[in-house]
Amino acid sequence: MPDIILVLAVFAALLILVALSQPIAERLRLAPVVLLAAIGAAIGTTSALLTRMHLSEGTGEVVRLFANLPLGSETFIYVFLPLLIFEAALTTDVRRVLDDAAPILVLAVIATLVAAAIVGLALWPISGQPLVVCLLLGAVVSTTDPAAVIAIFRDVGAPARLTRLVEGESLLNDASAILAYTVLLGIIVDGREPHLGDGAIEFAVSFFGGAALGFVAGRLTLSLVGWTRDNPLAEATLALALAYLSYIVADRIFHVSGVVATLAAGMTVSAVGRTRIDPRNWSYLAGVWRQVAFWANSLVFLLASILVPKLLLDLQFHDIVLVAALVVAAFVARLAVLFGLLPLLSLAKLTKPISNAYKIAIAWGGLRGALTLVLALSVTENPAIPASVQRFVAVLATGLVLFTLLVNGTTLRFLIRALGLDRLSPADQLLRDRVLEVSYADAIALIRKSAEEHALDPKAAARALAPYEVWVKEASARRAVRGVTLTEHERVTVSLVALGNQERTLVLQTLASRTASPAVVQALMRNADALIEGARADGRLGYKRAAEAGLAFPIWFRAAYFLHRRLGIRRFLAEQLGERFEWLLTMRLVIQELASASAKRSRAIFSDRVEALVDKILTDRLDRIKTGLDALRRQYPDYAAALEARFLRQSALRREIGRYRALYDEGLIAAEVFRDLASGVEDARAAEALPRFDIGLDTRALMERLDLFAGLDDKHLDSIARLLRPRLVVPRELIVRKGDRGDTAFFIASGAVDVALPQGHVLLGSGDVFGEMALITGEPRQADVRAQTYSRLLVLRRADFQNLMRANPDLSAKFNSIAASRRAANLSAIA
Ligand code: CMP
Repeated sequence: MPDIILVLAVFAALLILVALSQPIAERLRLAPVVLLAAIGAAIGTTSALLTRMHLSEGTGEVVRLFANLPLGSETFIYVFLPLLIFEAALTTDVRRVLDDAAPILVLAVIATLVAAAIVGLALWPISGQPLVVCLLLGAVVSTTDPAAVIAIFRDVGAPARLTRLVEGESLLNDASAILAYTVLLGIIVDGREPHLGDGAIEFAVSFFGGAALGFVAGRLTLSLVGWTRDNPLAEATLALALAYLSYIVADRIFHVSGVVATLAAGMTVSAVGRTRIDPRNWSYLAGVWRQVAFWANSLVFLLASILVPKLLLDLQFHDIVLVAALVVAAFVARLAVLFGLLPLLSLAKLTKPISNAYKIAIAWGGLRGALTLVLALSVTENPAIPASVQRFVAVLATGLVLFTLLVNGTTLRFLIRALGLDRLSPADQLLRDRVLEVSYADAIALIRKSAEEHALDPKAAARALAPYEVWVKEASARRAVRGVTLTEHERVTVSLVALGNQERTLVLQTLASRTASPAVVQALMRNADALIEGARADGRLGYKRAAEAGLAFPIWFRAAYFLHRRLGIRRFLAEQLGERFEWLLTMRLVIQELASASAKRSRAIFSDRVEALVDKILTDRLDRIKTGLDALRRQYPDYAAALEARFLRQSALRREIGRYRALYDEGLIAAEVFRDLASGVEDARAAEALPRFDIGLDTRALMERLDLFAGLDDKHLDSIARLLRPRLVVPRELIVRKGDRGDTAFFIASGAVDVALPQGHVLLGSGDVFGEMALITGEPRQADVRAQTYSRLLVLRRADFQNLMRANPDLSAKFNSIAASRRAANLSAIA
């Protein structure tokens, strides 16, 4: 066992390398991990060579330490892996991933398995190893590290959705590769005959078992978070514990996939935690995790590439041939997946088609990283595996990793340039010119004006103006040469994209000023992104479609509504309604801001015609939002008032803190006083909680709104209340369908419904009853009845209705006369 102090010192020295590799890699325009892998490989090889020489005692000890690093694959798998996976899950926008769940799952699970199979089958005939071993190798090399591709995609401004797909894929693809690896390893070690069915079942149990366990663990941890009383240190620490415990408990106790469990736990925290944890604490937590994951990732790369290349020292010609074959097979496998599976997805309308240039870039950018090295390492450490298999897997996997890092990693940028992915389209170029033209014109005017004001030497002004004027001349020359202009459609598209970006900024401001809660801000951000993407893809139509889709009730709302309808659970629906209310209110404020003069000015780069079009689109959106908001406000005026009050109060507090900061900046108050004032404001901000949304579905309270029941005594009312069930309906919901067999009657406690009769529409409101005719006459429903607005109903089943009629002759007479007069009205209308 080497001296712990020495190990620590060496470790710290490696951290210097890690730190310095960042700026150096930037200068060399490489992904930092590529550089780290190269450094690690160099250290590993040198130290392995040096051990064979005669060295002084001190140097010898250091060299031996590197040559035999006191780390095994277990360290990597148990110490580093949970950190990496948890952080990746934490930083993804889970709801986004869920939006694209189908293509991502296909890419991550099916594509990974297909790629592993292709690689295995390709090597099988030439390697002299059994098929399972070749498949194992396939699994080991099928995990890709997306960091490099994503960094470059971001650089060149690839479509956001594409980046998201690749990101989401990589998140799950590690899990499926590790799982496939574990299953295959089991088969090899037990010497079982491989059996496809059993393997698939094992895979599925492990995957879904891990997911369920991770979800439960995540929820449990979040419930502990409630106990920390908003202490950011405690929250970040709980998250750390969760990352490890979910992994170990899944792996060791339940024998399901630890990777999937940690992934699911991280995603749960990411999805739910953002809304549970105070935004400041959340960004602290995210910061801590970014740092931790950076250390883990860099060290894994560095250490694994120190450990593994030694395996390549006794490389033979045959090995090189095999590595070459593997490189080709792995690349072909990725191409096959991208060109074979992705088109199927777009055929099934799950994704937009992705251009071939992008596919090639994604395939070439499929760098194999630390995880492949770690898996290979753990094969070499497994005593149950024959030495020849160990060597086979280790040499080939390492060879491939080094190849992809050193060849693909360094050439990806050129490839992207060669494919033209980094080039601005003529329209984009024109647009850039137009934007610059507008802002340069401003600059020129400004220079002229201040030269005049300050009576400066005209020569100085000319000098300052020169670069702008040269640029303007060049731009107009460019335009003349190209002869392209933006079409109206393109101009509108560009303006709408700019509008979407403005919207994003404004939404973020509402988060910072705490005028909206984090969950709502997230929903608004997603909405803004969808608008931008819609505009990019289909111009005005795409924008409108996205705006429309944004207004629909989201899937969570529908789920909560389903629980209310079917099981009478109100809690979730109340939460969702409260959230929707806030969403609409904040949206309205944001759109009003967007329509304001100052926002208009900053995006005005085109003609007034385009501006007017954009304005019109905004006004339409605003009208729709207002309608939705009014519908809710009418039913829940108190909550609307509470929301608005919070908005005003938080805006006031923001102003207040701004004033203190200004005083402090000008040196008018001391730092201590400022801190004291600021923390007072912070406390006030934090204390400003919204009241719980009261959905108002108490049966007795609703009954009081009905004249029908007026005059009945308490006992009577109680017995009727037991029969009635409260129900909330949403605007445009179909409550009764014409021609159906009716078995319920409805009392409207609040809101309004529309009865669609052949002779026209009849509006029923508070206090009215409907659906009684089918129960009294036994005929099918006479008309469609739709909710006009949010309405609270009391629902009575057939048998209870009949009992009620029997027990209350007065009520019975009322119902009969209502039904009779409606019937008469309908008959006379037909006649
Ligand atoms: P039912 O036939 O069960 O379902 C449709 C309902 O629409 C019906 O009961 C009445 O409650 C209501 N309805 C039918 N005709 C009229 C009408 N002329 N005016 C108001 N409500 C009506």
